[in-house]
Amino acid sequence: IINKKQKLYEIHLDSARYFFNALFQNKNKGYEYFKRRGLNDKTIKYFGLGYAYDNWDNLTKYLLSKGYKESELMESGLILEKKNKNGYIDRFRDRIIFPIFDVRGKVIGFGGRVLGDLIPKYLNSPETLIFNKRYNLYGLNFAKKYIQDETLIIVEGYMDVISLFQFGIKNVVASLGTALTKEQGKLIKRYANKVIMAYDSDEAGTKATLKGMNILKEVGLDVKILKFDEAKDPDEYIRKKGVNLFKKYLNQSVSLVQFKIDILKKDYNLDNAQEKVDFTKKVSKILKEIKSPIELEHYIKKISKETGISVNAIGSEVYGKYYNPRQFNQNETR
Ligand code: GTP
Ligand code: MN
Ligand code: MN
Ligand code: MN
Ligand code: MN
Repeated sequence: IINKKQKLYEIHLDSARYFFNALFQNKNKGYEYFKRRGLNDKTIKYFGLGYAYDNWDNLTKYLLSKGYKESELMESGLILEKKNKNGYIDRFRDRIIFPIFDVRGKVIGFGGRVLGDLIPKYLNSPETLIFNKRYNLYGLNFAKKYIQDETLIIVEGYMDVISLFQFGIKNVVASLGTALTKEQGKLIKRYANKVIMAYDSDEAGTKATLKGMNILKEVGLDVKILKFDEAKDPDEYIRKKGVNLFKKYLNQSVSLVQFKIDILKKDYNLDNAQEKVDFTKKVSKILKEIKSPIELEHYIKKISKETGISVNAIGSEVYGKYYNPRQFNQNETR
C-alpha cells in the first residue's frame, strides 16, 4: 500500500507539472482564461494552475512514456478506459486545471473547469488511495501559514480561494464543492478556533451554510457567517468592490442566530400586523437556542425594536412563561 501511494503521489506531481507547463509555456487559451479572470502570473505559479489539452490522450501518452503502468494510471483516476476496451483516454480534456494539495502540500487530485459554459462546469478527480474529499480542504496547505487571529475563512470554490489570496486575504480554504464534512471540521479545528463561512449567495450556498455551520459548531469552532447581497460569491465581490470593502464586510460577519433571523425575515412583510406577529413567534423559536443571557437580551432588544413588540412579550414567548428582564434568572428558566 505504501508503495502504491508513493506511486500515486509521483503520478500526480508529474501530471501537475505537465498541466502547468501546458498552460504557462504555451500561453494558450487556458492561460488566456485565467488572465480574463484577473489572475496574474505570480498567482498562477503559486497555485500551480494548469491546462489539459483539447486532445484525447496527451497526458496518458506522456505518463506512459515516463514508465508508469496502465494499472497505476487507472488507480490515479487520471485516465479512463475506452468504451471498447481498446486503450485509454485522459479524464481531463480541454479544461483549466486546479491541482488539489493535501495539508503537507502534496498533489492528491485535480479539479478541472470548462473554459465556457459546458456542463459539468467542474470535474474533479475521483476518490483514490490518496484522495479522500471528505478529509481535505482546498488551500489549507497555503492558508495554514496565514491564520491570523485564529480565524479561517471558508468559501465554496477554487476561484474564491485564489482570488482572495491574490488580493492578500490568505487565510482561506474551500470545501471542495461537497457539503462540509465533520472530518473537514476536525481538520480545521487543528489550525483555527474561529471560522467565517463565506459561501455563495444563491440558495444552494445558503443551504450549504446552514448545514455546514452546525457541523463546525459541533467540533467546537466559533462560527460566523458572511452573506453577500451584491455579488454571487467572494471572488465576484472582491473584484467588484475591492479588498477594503471586503475586509470591512468581513468584520461585519454575523452570528449563526443573526444569519437564521435574516433568512427568516425575507419571508415576512413586517408592515403587516399579522405577519409581524408570525415573524416574532418564529424568531422566538430561534432565540431559544441561545445559551448566553447577555446574547439573548441583545437579540430580544433588537427584535423588539424592529417589530415594536415589547421586550417583555418577546422574552415571555422565548421562555414560555411571563418574562420580566429585571427578574432574569437563568437557572429558574432553563
Ligand atoms: P466559477 O464559475 O469558475 O467562478 O466557479 P465557482 O467556484 O464560483 O463555481 P460554483 O459556485 O458553481 O461552485 C463552487 C465549487 O463547487 C467549485 O469550485 C467546485 O469545486 C464545485 N462545483 C461546481 N460545479 C460543479 C460541478 O458541476 N461538478 C462538481 N463535481 N463540482 C462542482
Ligand atoms: Mn455550480
Ligand atoms: Mn456555488
Ligand atoms: Mn465564482
Ligand atoms: Mn461560486
